Amino acid sequence: MSHLRFGRLNRSYVALGVVVLLVYMLFVHQDRLSLSSLPYRAIQPVDLTAQRIKTLPKTEVLAHAPGFSVIENLYWHNRTFYLVTDQPWRIPPIKLIASLSTDTRTPANGRVVAKIKSIRLQPVSPEVKESNQIGETISLEAAERQFGSAQVIEGPMIINNDDNFAAHYYHWIGETFLGSWRVWSNYGWRTGMKLPMIKRVAFTQQYSKNDAPPGAKPGKDIFNDKPGANIWFTEKFFPGVVWDTKAVWDRRADSGKVYRITTAVLADRAAGHSGPSAAYKPWGDVLRLPVAPDWLLALRERVFSEYRGDTPLGMPEKPLVVYLQRQDSSRRLVTEDHEALVDELYQLQHEGVADIALEAFNSSMPFDEQVARIARATILIAVHGNGLTHSLWMTPTPRSAVFEFQPRTCTITDYSPLAIAAGVQHYMVHETDFCLPLDCPGRHCEKPGGINTIINLEPRVVTDQIRRILAH
Ligand SMILES: *[C@@H]1O[C@H](CO)[C@@H](O)[C@H](O)[C@H]1NC(C)=O
Ligand SMILES: *[C@@H]1O[C@H](CO)[C@@H](O)[C@H](O)[C@H]1NC(C)=O
Repeated sequence: MSHLRFGRLNRSYVALGVVVLLVYMLFVHQDRLSLSSLPYRAIQPVDLTAQRIKTLPKTEVLAHAPGFSVIENLYWHNRTFYLVTDQPWRIPPIKLIASLSTDTRTPANGRVVAKIKSIRLQPVSPEVKESNQIGETISLEAAERQFGSAQVIEGPMIINNDDNFAAHYYHWIGETFLGSWRVWSNYGWRTGMKLPMIKRVAFTQQYSKNDAPPGAKPGKDIFNDKPGANIWFTEKFFPGVVWDTKAVWDRRADSGKVYRITTAVLADRAAGHSGPSAAYKPWGDVLRLPVAPDWLLALRERVFSEYRGDTPLGMPEKPLVVYLQRQDSSRRLVTEDHEALVDELYQLQHEGVADIALEAFNSSMPFDEQVARIARATILIAVHGNGLTHSLWMTPTPRSAVFEFQPRTCTITDYSPLAIAAGVQHYMVHETDFCLPLDCPGRHCEKPGGINTIINLEPRVVTDQIRRILAH
């Protein structure tokens, strides 16, 4: 019995020994085992990787000023833009491209507006920290997986990323659209390319009145302005344009898909305000980019594509002074001063200096008729207000000018940059004198009354200067 017991014990020792040896080899001896395999770990073949990086459509910023960017291969997923690149140093700071909101009206909910995903080869030493890089480092494999089969949205697409200040002819046509058109024109001018027609216009954060859900508020959630200028002008500029409104982007977000916009012209108001030349406005920097002199005239041509009115297109022989009056609105001249101005203007006509047209545009006049009447003007006169967005459609000549009336207590620089952008001189008239844009006081407006104070005017300040201009 004892012999038998000894034999069993002996086999247990052997089994235990084997286990101990296995554990030793697995854990204690591991270093030596893996060391022996190291010489066979091949480095990634660089040429193959490079070829694959080349094939993946990567993001390129083709033209840029703060707030306005022409971007090739702009990716989008669930309300975030992605810039996928192997050249992150060529991408401007994100806050100059896009921002979450103009006035925090749209809650962030953990959303990031735009991210750089940078494809990088392996680092060359252990000191390299991925947290020090521009954008998030992404492996080629991950980039291919996430972005390689994105659904393509054919551009060019102008994108207005605003969640506010859209439902107004001035705020869209005169601000974010104007900046987009400037950066796009700059791209064409710089490259000498004949630019393709804009195919899509997107409002990522605003509905149109046709697709707004119940409860959506005009102005707050919807980009249509009351007279309908935003849609009318945009569809004239780009016949057959497709509208990608918030309703469309909401569906895209819910789909979970990744999208690639082939060419985007991204406009972002708050990003524009972050630029060094902003001066309280989104386009302060972009309007300093050089463009061909006819950059706006080419758009104006499209406005007249179906014009059937009686106003001759093109400037008349004799200089024409257009006084765009709005005496029935809150922004107006003191009645006697308005009347005195009209008398002084007709005196100019009497002297043969210029022809005079008194205009009072209202919503029953078609927009192309309004533009036709402005396009003929050598000189446009108006109280500060919406009508002055039309300065964009004046004809730039050495004598072309805008006279804008403001109370002495205000200098609101909303419209003077539009005249400058159109190549037209701007006179800010403060009751008894005027200043040119760069000589005026900085932007300010005193209360009470502010800009809606009924304005006094010494009319000879205007008409004497018109005599001087037209004498040249
Ligand atoms: C989109 O992002 C939000 C967070 O902002 C998240 O709750 C939602 O699940 C995401 N949707 C998809 C389809 O990934
Ligand atoms: C617009 O102006 C024209 C001409 O001045 C006038 O006949 C018409 O009644 C006005 N319409 C509206 C809606 O004010």
